[in-house]
Amino acid sequence: MGITDLLLLGQQKDLNSERGVSCDGELPAASDPKLVERAIAARSALGSKAMVLGHHYQRDEVIAFADIRGDSFKLAQAAADNRDAEFIFFCGVHFMAESADILTSKNQKVILPDLAAGCSMADMATASQVDNCWQVLTKLGVANKTIPITYMNSSAAIKAFTGENNGAVCTSSNAMRAMKWAFEKGEKVLFLPDQHLGRNTAVLSLGLKLEDCVLWNPWKPNGGLTDDQIKKAKVILWRGHCSVHGRFSVENINQVRAKISGVKVLVHPECQHDVVSNADVVGSTEMIIKTVKESAPGSKWAVGTELNLVQRLANENPDKQVVFLDKTVCYCSTMNRIDLPHLVWVMESLVNGRLENQIVVEEKIAKWAKVALERMLALP
Ligand code: 13P
Ligand code: SF4
Repeated sequence: MGITDLLLLGQQKDLNSERGVSCDGELPAASDPKLVERAIAARSALGSKAMVLGHHYQRDEVIAFADIRGDSFKLAQAAADNRDAEFIFFCGVHFMAESADILTSKNQKVILPDLAAGCSMADMATASQVDNCWQVLTKLGVANKTIPITYMNSSAAIKAFTGENNGAVCTSSNAMRAMKWAFEKGEKVLFLPDQHLGRNTAVLSLGLKLEDCVLWNPWKPNGGLTDDQIKKAKVILWRGHCSVHGRFSVENINQVRAKISGVKVLVHPECQHDVVSNADVVGSTEMIIKTVKESAPGSKWAVGTELNLVQRLANENPDKQVVFLDKTVCYCSTMNRIDLPHLVWVMESLVNGRLENQIVVEEKIAKWAKVALERMLALP
């Protein structure tokens, strides 16, 4: 959906404006028929001093205003490469905005339109829990042989821990390269916080066995593991997961294959191991988009990733059949917190001289997190 479509939608909403929801305070109402015009006006008033980054899981109404659309890796690179825009509106979730702040220069400011746009997976590994785990590994004499790899979907504090302990950040598009790199430097990998991406990368991409991996439960003493299990493991997986991708099941796959003949199942590596093992194609967000786009007309795809993206893929590839892998609707609720009213609010505020919702990572944390992020950007 482009800006013209949004304008038409605004006109339709105009007809219904009598029953429009009123919104006290400064946030424009979602039913405001002038919302798209307000967004266009604010965006053009800010001009080249601003840049809007939009993650692929964002709503269409937000993506329509993105100067750059991408997955977390592409957006991190876009933030790192840009030295001109003074203000970066990050339409994604909190950990992505933190990374953008770390990678941009001191005079650039990163704005997250709604501060409640977090990530439940990132919240599953806190700095004190990870510190606790590292102390156990140190006591067992294995910390010096262990390279921590943290998924981009983690707080800046976890990225800093990783950077300070010779590790790196990875995303779903370079997890295999990051894990290979880690095994060149050490004997073990501590993979945070997504157990599924870690397990799928270790087993399906690097050819390790399931038994080479153990699961560290941060809520149990010693991670719920014996000393021997920790010492023997090649990969220590953190017990975190994505509540959106974790929903897809092998049953979903069987059902869609029974219903649509010739359908191919395409899933994100954050899905559970049995789902990924049964899928036809596994890939990061960018890879999912590329796979559908480059497939032959008439191809049929059941896609296991966030719903905003799957709907957009279906709309942008009308010559193919693209369906959501699950039967029930599931958006990422935190990604969806960024909507047009919030984007308009932060842009208009800036036009009026008020900087709202700036994301600033503490300098001490930013220093080591940057080391971990730059190691990722330098991966071969
Ligand atoms: P990407 O790294 O593919 O952008 O994924 C981000 C994310 O939040 C997946 O759930
Ligand atoms: Fe976090 Fe999952 Fe949402 Fe991605 S889709 S932001 S991992 S909760």
